[in-house]
Amino acid sequence: MRTHDGYEIDDDRDRLDLDVIWSFLSTEAYWARWRTRPDVAGQLASAWRVVGAYTSTGEQVGLARAWSDGVTSAYLGDVFIVPEHRGRGLGVAVIEEMIDNGPGAHLRWMLHTADAHALYARFGFAPPDHKYLERQRDHVSELRQSRDS
Ligand SMILES: CC(C)(COP(=O)(O)OP(=O)(O)OC[C@H]1O[C@@H](n2cnc3c(N)ncnc32)[C@H](O)[C@@H]1OP(=O)(O)O)[C@@H](O)C(=O)NCCC(=O)NCCS
Repeated sequence: MRTHDGYEIDDDRDRLDLDVIWSFLSTEAYWARWRTRPDVAGQLASAWRVVGAYTSTGEQVGLARAWSDGVTSAYLGDVFIVPEHRGRGLGVAVIEEMIDNGPGAHLRWMLHTADAHALYARFGFAPPDHKYLERQRDHVSELRQSRDS
Protein backbone atom coordinates (compact mmCIF):
# COMPACT_ATOMS: atom_id res chain seq x y z
CA MET A 1 0.00 0.00 0.00
CA ARG A 2 1.21 3.51 -0.75
CA THR A 3 -0.30 6.94 -0.47
CA HIS A 4 -0.90 9.62 -3.07
CA ASP A 5 -2.18 13.06 -2.14
CA GLY A 6 -4.02 11.71 0.91
CA TYR A 7 -5.42 8.68 -0.96
CA GLU A 8 -4.34 5.08 -0.50
CA ILE A 9 -3.31 2.99 -3.52
CA ASP A 10 -3.62 -0.62 -2.50
CA ASP A 11 -3.59 -4.08 -4.11
CA ASP A 12 -5.38 -5.72 -1.16
CA ARG A 13 -8.34 -7.45 -2.84
CA ASP A 14 -10.18 -7.66 0.51
CA ARG A 15 -10.68 -3.89 0.30
CA LEU A 16 -12.57 -3.99 -2.99
CA ASP A 17 -16.08 -2.56 -2.80
CA LEU A 18 -18.21 -4.42 -5.35
CA ASP A 19 -21.04 -1.88 -4.93
CA VAL A 20 -18.76 0.98 -6.05
CA ILE A 21 -17.16 -1.04 -8.85
CA TRP A 22 -20.47 -2.37 -10.11
CA SER A 23 -22.08 1.06 -9.88
CA PHE A 24 -19.39 2.56 -12.13
CA LEU A 25 -18.98 -0.29 -14.59
CA SER A 26 -22.71 -0.86 -15.09
CA THR A 27 -23.62 2.78 -15.68
CA GLU A 28 -20.59 4.82 -16.79
CA ALA A 29 -18.14 2.45 -18.46
CA TYR A 30 -18.80 2.34 -22.20
CA TRP A 31 -16.82 -0.90 -22.41
CA ALA A 32 -18.48 -2.86 -19.59
CA ARG A 33 -22.18 -2.04 -19.34
CA TRP A 34 -23.24 -5.40 -20.81
CA ARG A 35 -21.65 -7.39 -17.99
CA THR A 36 -23.73 -8.70 -15.10
CA ARG A 37 -22.85 -8.12 -11.47
CA PRO A 38 -21.87 -11.81 -11.07
CA ASP A 39 -19.67 -11.38 -14.17
CA VAL A 40 -17.83 -8.51 -12.49
CA ALA A 41 -17.58 -10.32 -9.14
CA GLY A 42 -16.09 -13.31 -10.93
CA GLN A 43 -13.64 -11.16 -12.86
CA LEU A 44 -12.42 -9.58 -9.62
CA ALA A 45 -12.18 -12.93 -7.84
CA SER A 46 -10.15 -14.48 -10.65
CA ALA A 47 -7.96 -11.43 -11.32
CA TRP A 48 -4.22 -11.86 -11.15
CA ARG A 49 -3.97 -8.48 -9.43
CA VAL A 50 -6.28 -5.61 -8.57
CA VAL A 51 -5.29 -2.13 -7.50
CA GLY A 52 -7.77 0.18 -5.84
CA ALA A 53 -7.69 3.87 -4.92
CA TYR A 54 -9.25 4.72 -1.56
CA THR A 55 -9.95 7.92 0.36
CA SER A 56 -8.50 8.36 3.84
CA THR A 57 -11.82 7.09 5.20
CA GLY A 58 -11.60 3.91 3.13
CA GLU A 59 -14.11 4.74 0.38
CA GLN A 60 -13.10 3.16 -2.93
CA VAL A 61 -12.80 5.72 -5.74
CA GLY A 62 -10.80 3.89 -8.39
CA LEU A 63 -9.74 0.56 -9.80
CA ALA A 64 -7.39 -1.24 -12.16
CA ARG A 65 -7.75 -4.96 -12.81
CA ALA A 66 -5.27 -7.30 -14.48
CA TRP A 67 -5.14 -10.89 -15.55
CA SER A 68 -1.86 -12.61 -16.22
CA ASP A 69 0.13 -15.83 -16.12
CA GLY A 70 2.62 -13.93 -13.96
CA VAL A 71 5.50 -14.99 -16.21
CA THR A 72 5.19 -13.63 -19.73
CA SER A 73 2.23 -11.33 -20.26
CA ALA A 74 -0.56 -9.42 -18.63
CA TYR A 75 -3.74 -7.63 -19.66
CA LEU A 76 -4.91 -4.40 -18.07
CA GLY A 77 -8.61 -3.58 -17.87
CA ASP A 78 -11.35 -1.76 -16.00
CA VAL A 79 -9.23 1.26 -15.18
CA PHE A 80 -11.36 4.03 -13.74
CA ILE A 81 -11.44 6.84 -11.22
CA VAL A 82 -14.91 8.00 -10.18
CA PRO A 83 -15.62 11.46 -11.64
CA GLU A 84 -15.50 13.42 -8.35
CA HIS A 85 -11.91 12.29 -7.72
CA ARG A 86 -10.39 12.74 -11.18
CA GLY A 87 -7.67 15.19 -12.13
CA ARG A 88 -5.57 14.60 -9.00
CA GLY A 89 -3.13 12.08 -10.40
CA LEU A 90 -5.02 9.04 -9.16
CA GLY A 91 -5.34 7.51 -12.64
CA VAL A 92 -1.57 7.68 -13.06
CA ALA A 93 -1.01 6.40 -9.51
CA VAL A 94 -3.24 3.35 -10.00
CA ILE A 95 -1.70 2.45 -13.38
CA GLU A 96 1.82 3.02 -12.04
CA GLU A 97 1.16 0.74 -9.09
CA MET A 98 -0.19 -1.96 -11.39
CA ILE A 99 2.40 -1.72 -14.17
CA ASP A 100 5.65 -0.42 -12.71
CA ASN A 101 5.55 -1.07 -8.96
CA GLY A 102 4.15 -4.55 -8.81
CA PRO A 103 5.31 -8.05 -9.68
CA GLY A 104 4.39 -7.46 -13.33
CA ALA A 105 6.94 -4.77 -14.15
CA HIS A 106 8.88 -7.18 -16.40
CA LEU A 107 5.81 -8.50 -18.29
CA ARG A 108 4.45 -7.72 -21.75
CA TRP A 109 1.28 -5.71 -21.07
CA MET A 110 -1.75 -5.38 -23.34
CA LEU A 111 -4.92 -3.33 -23.13
CA HIS A 112 -7.77 -1.98 -25.20
CA THR A 113 -9.11 1.53 -24.78
CA ALA A 114 -10.97 3.93 -27.03
CA ASP A 115 -9.41 6.94 -25.33
CA ALA A 116 -6.73 8.00 -22.87
CA HIS A 117 -4.03 6.74 -25.28
CA ALA A 118 -1.77 9.61 -24.21
CA LEU A 119 -2.12 8.56 -20.59
CA TYR A 120 -1.07 4.99 -21.39
CA ALA A 121 1.76 6.14 -23.67
CA ARG A 122 3.48 7.43 -20.52
CA PHE A 123 3.78 3.82 -19.43
CA GLY A 124 5.14 2.59 -22.75
CA PHE A 125 1.89 1.47 -24.38
CA ALA A 126 1.92 1.87 -28.16
CA PRO A 127 0.11 0.37 -31.16
CA PRO A 128 1.16 -3.26 -31.64
CA ASP A 129 3.67 -4.44 -34.19
CA HIS A 130 3.06 -6.83 -37.10
CA LYS A 131 3.28 -9.93 -34.86
CA TYR A 132 0.18 -9.14 -32.85
CA LEU A 133 -2.98 -10.97 -33.94
CA GLU A 134 -6.42 -10.70 -32.37
CA ARG A 135 -9.74 -12.46 -32.87
CA GLN A 136 -12.72 -10.16 -32.33
CA ARG A 137 -15.48 -11.16 -29.92
CA ASP A 138 -18.14 -10.49 -32.62
CA HIS A 139 -16.33 -12.98 -34.81
CA VAL A 140 -16.60 -15.58 -32.03
CA SER A 141 -20.37 -15.16 -31.73
CA GLU A 142 -20.74 -15.35 -35.52
CA LEU A 143 -18.78 -18.60 -35.50
CA ARG A 144 -20.93 -19.99 -32.69
CA GLN A 145 -24.15 -19.04 -34.48
CA SER A 146 -23.07 -20.73 -37.70
CA ARG A 147 -21.89 -23.78 -35.75
CA ASP A 148 -25.14 -24.04 -33.73
CA SER A 149 -27.55 -23.45 -36.65
C1 LIG B 1 -8.85 7.92 -17.55
C2 LIG B 1 -9.00 8.15 -16.03
C3 LIG B 1 -8.74 6.82 -15.31
C4 LIG B 1 -7.94 9.18 -15.60
O1 LIG B 1 -8.09 9.36 -14.19
P1 LIG B 1 -7.56 10.68 -13.46
O2 LIG B 1 -7.40 10.39 -12.02
O3 LIG B 1 -8.41 11.84 -13.82
O4 LIG B 1 -6.14 10.84 -14.17
P2 LIG B 1 -4.92 11.71 -13.65
O5 LIG B 1 -5.39 12.82 -12.75
O6 LIG B 1 -3.90 10.76 -13.11
O7 LIG B 1 -4.45 12.34 -15.02
C5 LIG B 1 -3.25 11.97 -15.58
C6 LIG B 1 -3.06 12.58 -16.93
O8 LIG B 1 -3.85 11.87 -17.88
C7 LIG B 1 -4.60 12.79 -18.62
N1 LIG B 1 -5.88 12.18 -18.93
C8 LIG B 1 -6.86 11.90 -18.06
N2 LIG B 1 -7.89 11.35 -18.72
C9 LIG B 1 -7.55 11.30 -20.02
C10 LIG B 1 -8.20 10.86 -21.19
N3 LIG B 1 -9.44 10.35 -21.17
N4 LIG B 1 -7.55 10.97 -22.35
C11 LIG B 1 -6.30 11.49 -22.41
N5 LIG B 1 -5.63 11.93 -21.33
C12 LIG B 1 -6.26 11.83 -20.15
C13 LIG B 1 -4.76 14.01 -17.74
O9 LIG B 1 -5.00 15.15 -18.52
C14 LIG B 1 -3.45 14.05 -17.03
O10 LIG B 1 -2.47 14.66 -17.83
P3 LIG B 1 -1.50 15.78 -17.20
O11 LIG B 1 -0.77 15.10 -16.07
O12 LIG B 1 -0.63 16.15 -18.37
O13 LIG B 1 -2.41 16.87 -16.75
C15 LIG B 1 -10.39 8.73 -15.66
O14 LIG B 1 -10.59 9.92 -16.40
C16 LIG B 1 -11.52 7.78 -15.91
O15 LIG B 1 -11.88 6.99 -15.05
N6 LIG B 1 -12.13 7.88 -17.11
C17 LIG B 1 -13.24 7.01 -17.43
C18 LIG B 1 -12.78 5.61 -17.66
C19 LIG B 1 -11.80 5.52 -18.79
O16 LIG B 1 -11.92 6.17 -19.83
N7 LIG B 1 -10.79 4.67 -18.60
C20 LIG B 1 -9.76 4.48 -19.61
C21 LIG B 1 -10.06 3.30 -20.45
S1 LIG B 1 -9.51 1.83 -19.65
